[in-house]
Amino acid sequence: MEKLVIEGGRKLTGEVKISGAKNAALPLIAATLLAEGVHVLNNVPDLRDTRTILRLLESLGLTWKREGDALYIDGTGLRYSEASYDLVKTMRASVLVLGPLLARLGKAKVSMPGGCAIGARPINFHLTGFEQLGVTCDLEHGYVDARIEGRLQGGTVYFDIPSVTGTENLLMAASLAEGTTVIKNAAREPEIGNLIDMLTAMGARIEGRDTAQLVIRGVKTLHAATSRIIPDRIEAGTYAIAIAATGGEAVVKGCDPAHLPALLGKMHSAGVAVDAGTDSLSIQSPVCRGERIAAVDVTTMPYPGYPTDLQAQFMALMTLATGVSVIHETIFENRFMHVAELQRMGADIKIDGRIAMVKGLAETDLFGAQVMATDLRASSSLVIAGLAAVGRTDISRIYHLERGYEDMVGKLTGLGANVWKEDE
Ligand code: EPU
Repeated sequence: MEKLVIEGGRKLTGEVKISGAKNAALPLIAATLLAEGVHVLNNVPDLRDTRTILRLLESLGLTWKREGDALYIDGTGLRYSEASYDLVKTMRASVLVLGPLLARLGKAKVSMPGGCAIGARPINFHLTGFEQLGVTCDLEHGYVDARIEGRLQGGTVYFDIPSVTGTENLLMAASLAEGTTVIKNAAREPEIGNLIDMLTAMGARIEGRDTAQLVIRGVKTLHAATSRIIPDRIEAGTYAIAIAATGGEAVVKGCDPAHLPALLGKMHSAGVAVDAGTDSLSIQSPVCRGERIAAVDVTTMPYPGYPTDLQAQFMALMTLATGVSVIHETIFENRFMHVAELQRMGADIKIDGRIAMVKGLAETDLFGAQVMATDLRASSSLVIAGLAAVGRTDISRIYHLERGYEDMVGKLTGLGANVWKEDE
């Protein structure tokens, strides 16, 4: 196994280019199951998770090739309907094949994802939604066995909480259903807009993009199309926070600042100067102006609220602020695994249930330490802390990072960081 080593204390400067979004690439790749022919996806990040879903598609009979950041996926060969435990246990987003398999084959057997490092993460909303479309779902030996005789039937689906992959799964299934489906309290993340654009290019009829009510008028068949993955807003936010935390000044290129409304507001309140262009963000830490980072409270919410996927990174920034920041995690019940590791680096944080109180160090620094990555975003918060800390930080289990950050070592090195991988 490899670990990441950071010699901290260098200000990040220059520019960094953002990759395509992991959480858009996964549903768009799954959507190629919906139609025969060669689908072209551009701006696809090469990550552990995108490789996993491609392996899953292969196991279902599809073929694909990659040329640079373009993927050519042929949906013609689909003939199997089972997603094995071996694949699903490494990536929960594998459940995204359920909707397309039901739509095209009328059956799907997908291993139930277990709990994970950030919470229980059930898939009951997905299954209840499919049942509204006429599907019978049984749970047997750790697998969801779902099937329907004939075509899916349009219906009304209501989510208690707007679920991102739940909305995506239902959108894909309903596109090929007979009749009209309405999804109420749908998630509105930009990745869902990206999927709607792809489905529309494939011949689907969907109304309500970017709203909480989606209306899908089912069609008999869809066709292959060319789509582009949107920039990764979480990767962009992670680098923006890292630049601010190191006291640096740099440009985050190839991103969409319109997808980061909550983070940019919080950065501004923290005293970070943010200049948002159409596809770039110029970030200047207050430290560049001889000022300190200010403490700001954050509550995670579904989009357009503050994203849970940027909670851990913002906490790392707040450990350096002047004052106390209250961070409330409302989406996942166990998403503070990074706290104990940040404490090993000198951070002053107290947790009470889903609330963390972060007392900024103000005049002192974090110090380097040996820490352990527990999930993808927790890992990136440790990277930010390590970059800002004095001395050497060793982060073990970096396979978590490789699930969602393309070439992080190369990108950080380009920003002037002293960071490298080593065998543990
Ligand atoms: N929920 C249920 N039942 C369900 C589905 C969701 O109770 O059937 C609950 C969840 O437990 C959670 C809330 O609803 O409390 C929202 O979860 P959601 O379904 O939206 O999460 P997800 O679709 O499983 C996606 C991202 C996550 C991101 C969340 C929240 C992908 C592939 N994953 O997960 O990304 O944190 O939305 O924005 O899109 C990451 O990239 O590190 C990551 C974890």
